[in-house]
Amino acid sequence: MPILDVRHLEKIYEGKVAHKALDNINFSINKGEFVGIMGPSGSGKTTLLNLIATIDKPTSGEVLINGKNPHILNRKDTALFRRHELGFVFQHFNLLDTLTVEENIVLPLTLDGVSVREMEKKLIEVTKKLGIDKILKKRTYEISGGQMQRTAIARSIIHKPSLILADEPTGNLDSKASKDVMETLTTINKEDGATALMVTHDAVAASYCHRVIFIKDGQLYNEIYRGENRQTFFQKIIDMLALLGGDSRDLSTVRL
Ligand SMILES: Nc1ncnc2c1ncn2[C@@H]1O[C@H](COP(=O)(O)OP(=O)(O)OP(=O)(O)O)[C@@H](O)[C@H]1O
Ligand SMILES: [Mg+2]
Repeated sequence: MPILDVRHLEKIYEGKVAHKALDNINFSINKGEFVGIMGPSGSGKTTLLNLIATIDKPTSGEVLINGKNPHILNRKDTALFRRHELGFVFQHFNLLDTLTVEENIVLPLTLDGVSVREMEKKLIEVTKKLGIDKILKKRTYEISGGQMQRTAIARSIIHKPSLILADEPTGNLDSKASKDVMETLTTINKEDGATALMVTHDAVAASYCHRVIFIKDGQLYNEIYRGENRQTFFQKIIDMLALLGGDSRDLSTVRL
């Protein structure tokens, strides 16, 4: 059974003029896969991620995570489902700057009443892996962008979610920090078998994925698999983006 199964997903934003943001989207992701989503600005990437994240509801179609449809749950159960099954990484990190690195990371466990000893154990394990175990007592304004994003990743994986969802996780980082973050995601994917779905405009970041799904005007356009060589994959991604067209932003963020 796939970790994520998206079936006939459709999203129409009602308004003065109704806008169909997603049209019959179908795909699935197996355990341990690391999948990228790319497409021009306005093509529906964030909409798709929000539907999978249960932040918004589809107009029709289904999202199944571990075979369960979170959209049929009530508010309280949806919140629990999100907290237990999903991990989030955003462009703007979403860390609380009144808390230390350590406090930010264990926040999801605090909410679930996990014991202090258990928290410590998980904290050490995850921060060593991400190379942030020396900055645990710092506040988030005292660390670099790359360290912030690794802190956000630590927080997103500390409860071992079924699926990690990332929207432009390297969007605010320079190329060195981006590389660190992508290598971090690759490590947790390889070592922990974590399953991840990442929206990105950055072809270099996308080249770390096993597979990239392209969407255009709310529809699936194509998907390509990585194979052995990341450099070749990067070139294929660039070619696909050129075919897709879209705005200059898609290519302006390319870093070699
Ligand atoms: N809350 C909303 N109400 C109405 N229309 C919306 C809403 N959110 C997004 N849209 C529209 O839906 C389409 C898809 O938006 P979405 O944010 O999913 O694009 P995106 O692929 O994430 O773009 P970007 O790369 O710029 O982040 C766009 O045309 C957008 O204007
Ligand atoms: Mg977006």
